[in-house]
Amino acid sequence: MSLSIVILAAGQGKRMNSKLPKVLQPLAGVPLLGHVLTTTKHLSAQHVHVVYGHGGEQVRAVINDPSVNWVLQAQQLGTGHALAQAMPHIADDQTVLVLYGDVPLTRAQTLQPLLDAVAQGSVGLLSVKLADPTGYGRIVRDNAGRVVRIVEHKDANTKERGIDEANTGLLAAKASHLKQWLAQLKNDNAQGEYYLTDIVTMAVRDGVNVEAVLAPSEAEVLGVNDKIQLAEVESHLRSWRAKDLMQQGATLADPARIDIRGEVTVGKDVFIDVNVVFVGRVHLADGVRIGPNCYLKDTQIGEGTELFSNCVTDQVVIGPQCHIGPFARLRPEAKLADHVHIGNFVEVKKSQIGSGSKANHLTYIGDAVVGSGVNIGAGTITVNYDGANKWQTVIEDNVFVGSGSMLIAPVTIGAGANTGAGSTITKDAPAGKLTLARSKQVTIEGWKRPTKKS
Ligand code: UD1
Ligand code: CA
Repeated sequence: MSLSIVILAAGQGKRMNSKLPKVLQPLAGVPLLGHVLTTTKHLSAQHVHVVYGHGGEQVRAVINDPSVNWVLQAQQLGTGHALAQAMPHIADDQTVLVLYGDVPLTRAQTLQPLLDAVAQGSVGLLSVKLADPTGYGRIVRDNAGRVVRIVEHKDANTKERGIDEANTGLLAAKASHLKQWLAQLKNDNAQGEYYLTDIVTMAVRDGVNVEAVLAPSEAEVLGVNDKIQLAEVESHLRSWRAKDLMQQGATLADPARIDIRGEVTVGKDVFIDVNVVFVGRVHLADGVRIGPNCYLKDTQIGEGTELFSNCVTDQVVIGPQCHIGPFARLRPEAKLADHVHIGNFVEVKKSQIGSGSKANHLTYIGDAVVGSGVNIGAGTITVNYDGANKWQTVIEDNVFVGSGSMLIAPVTIGAGANTGAGSTITKDAPAGKLTLARSKQVTIEGWKRPTKKS
């Protein structure tokens, strides 16, 4: 049977106190709804429908996923009403899995038993045992332990409120069944809503078995209604991702002080100090060490390289055995070969730096091709921008750039050349020679310091 997933996401999320719709609130840098959509990819759904509400245009624009069919629920009349809006788009022979846009941490393998239940002719519900189930619908079972109905907290009597098995809201059923049952929903309940949960009674009435499958952990079914719950799910996700890195072999100075807003892969014997933020795709090869307070986005780092504290990298490839930082900034398209040293307050953008080259202090390298064995003195700037266009600087192998050099691009410093400290190099400097470009030092005889007028 092929699978259609319906994500209910029309709720307003007033308790977020935010201009951003609830399902767009970021969790590990990705909108809540984005996490749910990622789960649907792991279940290889044939169709994904998202039920969105008033003002949901922003949600559609931000998510911008062409595989999603967007279904408008103009008025929020309850979860049953929400699902009913999607049903005309779903063929009778489909299995339907209902997810919530604000429940981001459920894994595909946790949902699989619900689909298996449907394959065997049942309705599958995901339930969870809660120490405090206040506010949740409760799973009511008969003496034989069979699920007979779900009662919402607001409609439940004292005995029913004592049940600790709560409804997560996530369920799966045959489309043909759902169409039949949703058409019969009434809103004669405490909230005046069309409850999706009422289909359980109808299933039982029609002789369809209802199987409640317990979620493996509470964290996986947590819903996000306010910023406090958002921080809670963030902390669960952080801890899972940190554990995953440790299982890959990384040593974390403190698993509670690492943020992974993307996909990180590591080799063996990697060490990551506190307060490191990873964004996008990051790979750290064997033996890489990352110092405290680094921010790494879309970065690949080769074997044995060390980043000292407070480095920022973005779209960068760093080779093996390099020393970077502290306080280095590597910007998009910086590509460093092996044994490169980039020191404090050095910025590198759209440049290649060859094997063993060094820029240890206070330098800007932009739009440059730097060979191997080059030493770039403190305070050097590749002057790449003329106010309209960017130009390239080429520094060939074994060049020694004197401190405080301005290299006015386009310009080439030939192999083995030296530039004198403080030079402003506007023309190509020949290989193997010392080039100086600065005015002669003069001392003015008889000059006096100005004094204050009385
Ligand atoms: C629902 C369940 C309850 C369960 C709880 C788990 C029903 C009647 N109750 O209750 O048994 O314990 O979830 O959190 O289903 N939504 C819409 N349109 C609507 C109403 C809701 O799209 O008209 C969406 C919301 O955006 C949300 C989801 O459905 O993603 C759940 O809605 P919510 O109001 O939180 O349901 P509860 O009343 O908490
Ligand atoms: Ca809720």
